[in-house]
Amino acid sequence: TRVAVIFGGVSVEHEVSVISALQAIHAMDTMKYEIIPIYISKNREWYSGEKLLEIENYKQLDQLLKEVDTVVLEQAADNQVVLKKKERGLFSKGIISTIDVVFPVVHGTNGEDGSLQGYLELLGLPYVGCDVASSAAGMDKVIMKQILRDSGVPIVDYRWFYASAWQENKEHIIQYADELAYPVIVKPANLGSSVGISKATNPEELEEAIDLAVSYSNKIIIEKMITNLTEVNCSVLGDYENVESSVCERVLMTDEILSYKDKYQSGGKTGDTKGMESVNRIIPADISEEATLKVKELAEKTFQLLNASGVSRIDFLLNDEGEIFVNEINTIPGSLSFYLWEPSGKNFQQLTDELIRLALK
Ligand code: DAL
Ligand code: MG
Repeated sequence: TRVAVIFGGVSVEHEVSVISALQAIHAMDTMKYEIIPIYISKNREWYSGEKLLEIENYKQLDQLLKEVDTVVLEQAADNQVVLKKKERGLFSKGIISTIDVVFPVVHGTNGEDGSLQGYLELLGLPYVGCDVASSAAGMDKVIMKQILRDSGVPIVDYRWFYASAWQENKEHIIQYADELAYPVIVKPANLGSSVGISKATNPEELEEAIDLAVSYSNKIIIEKMITNLTEVNCSVLGDYENVESSVCERVLMTDEILSYKDKYQSGGKTGDTKGMESVNRIIPADISEEATLKVKELAEKTFQLLNASGVSRIDFLLNDEGEIFVNEINTIPGSLSFYLWEPSGKNFQQLTDELIRLALK
């Protein structure tokens, strides 16, 4: 089976994606799969080649990209999809390989939001993970919350608006925060990795927080902030037929908001394969058995309500009264949350096997 692993991409999570993808590639069974790495650079150029498999090589990116081919996925006459060298002129002869299945490991914008999935649908290629609609719904925090709220899944109270509304009537939007009561958290509605997120405890801070958020996105969400919160995550694996949830992890925070810096830059620098593990986590989460069961149940329910497939990580917020809220779903989680499956006896290789099996079934 020829598996094209696509990673990198234009999102702010580009570096994290490289780490997640190379971890997955190195975990995959080379007896079963011919692995074809496809790296999307920040300026949208697609590359393929052996040298992309070594994380060290990304430290000299310009050099690396000279030593691999620029490529394109194309439909061939016999309905197969081929990876070709990109060449000038009409008739390029440089077919590198046919592709049987794609394994997208691109976080965030254009990778986790349904764009890449839509492109693969057009090409007629099977792929690992969520389809177009579930990817898009999972990436947009407002759409996700609306779906969950409709089915009674507990979420933190929120308001949302478009950037244009902010420019038109700031007063009106500042009133939203009064309705929620400070402190609140302001987020771009459709970015991952805590980018553009900040806390506000008064109208002045709120204005600053919204100005920051609108510089990243045209859709903004304000959430009531839970103080003394506990962050717990749980991964779900499966599809519309069958799902299972992993052990839970508790994420230890150095700040009230787990910022991009906490996640990826404290200790684990870009190029460090331990990127995702640089966050301190307790596995299994040290919460009550009752809370664990509830989190697992809500994680599975969230996955199913969004019609997700493959592996997702659902992030929860627990307050000091023991209430549990779904915070978000990551449909292409960092490191594919492989470390949450190990305690139940599924190693990373088995996880990739299962994901490819689901994509091809
Ligand atoms: N969006 C990142 C990769 C995560 O939350 O796992
Ligand atoms: Mg998250």
